[in-house]
Amino acid sequence: MTLACQSKGMTPALNSMRLSVAPMMECTDRHFRYLVRLISRHTRLYTEMVTANALVHSARAGRDPMRFLAHHVDEHPVALQLGGSDPALMAEAALMGTKAGFDEINLNIGCPSDRVTTGKFGACLMAEPQLVAACVRSIRDAIGSVIPVTVKTRIGIDHHDSDAFLDDFVGVVAAAGCDTFIIHARKAILAGLSPKENREIPPLKYERAYKLKREMPALTVILNGGVKTLGDIPAHLAEADGVMVGRAAYDAPYALLAQADHLIFGDAHATPSETEIALAYLAYAEREVASGTRLHAVTRHAMGLFNSRPGARAWRRALSGVNTMPTPNDALDAIRELLARNETDGVVSKRQPLAA
Ligand SMILES: Cc1cc2nc3c(=O)[nH]c(=O)nc-3n(C[C@H](O)[C@H](O)[C@H](O)COP(=O)(O)O)c2cc1C
Repeated sequence: MTLACQSKGMTPALNSMRLSVAPMMECTDRHFRYLVRLISRHTRLYTEMVTANALVHSARAGRDPMRFLAHHVDEHPVALQLGGSDPALMAEAALMGTKAGFDEINLNIGCPSDRVTTGKFGACLMAEPQLVAACVRSIRDAIGSVIPVTVKTRIGIDHHDSDAFLDDFVGVVAAAGCDTFIIHARKAILAGLSPKENREIPPLKYERAYKLKREMPALTVILNGGVKTLGDIPAHLAEADGVMVGRAAYDAPYALLAQADHLIFGDAHATPSETEIALAYLAYAEREVASGTRLHAVTRHAMGLFNSRPGARAWRRALSGVNTMPTPNDALDAIRELLARNETDGVVSKRQPLAA
């Protein structure tokens, strides 16, 4: 596999936008992000979407906003994804995120949920570029230009899916101070499809994202949608500035990311084996449990760590059983014993060799 990045004259190790793990509700919480960071030092991470409304109003009500904003110091580079469309609320939420130490504020203009009681957010806002631009401007005014304000969106919504529609949306929002667009390369159908169907049924049209980059080369365009393996990525990097991966990264984080630092970012440090990652993650879980986190809230994110490897089923079974053990520490001991047994038997992986 060649490093497509080098042809663009970038400094690969410094540009974490080249590969990122997508924001995913119920998935990319701080525990999963910590797991990913054990596997890849450079891949950019995103929080689950936090609505500006929830963040600001819970803070105003005197509740600790860190329940939305907490992240481990090792997670950087990490972006906070916000949902919402009230410019003042978005600015206040972005300021809270900036003060909490996030490296980017990302606006969710791609989620196919329709209006919610607390205001609208997501893909329906593609029809209101001026409102999205007002949010970007308001955020910029509040936080300055120290960290990027980015937008994650689709190639269109419903019958609005022409090149001109996407160009107009991007042009208006870019003029307000956003120079990075993450494009989920399928349109969203707002009436009639569930969010899950909207990630599967509308066809992927990568060419639309590539064309956007060609026509607006000053923008950073990140391609998202349907990327399944690390091997898929270089071809996209020849046409776009970065690739964002969602489901494949959650379902099989090691398989996807173990060689990412080497092949995408040009950092050839030795990649730990799945077993070494598992042991480090269990140590993290133990620390989390000691500070009051439920063990299952941590371990549930590691189900895919050994995906497609011989020890995968036993690993998943052990993680699924944590709630049946007398104490969390008993559960952790049992999982460690499994790893030790499997490692001795050569069932669980050894250190991943780097590809040539
Ligand atoms: C369970 C789940 C939750 C998601 N939650 C969000 C979210 O909070 N914000 C967002 O912008 N996209 C969300 N997405 C969409 C992903 O970020 C991504 O755009 C989509 O899954 C396509 O990428 P993929 O084919 O690599 O998975 C979610 C996707 C999944 C599967």
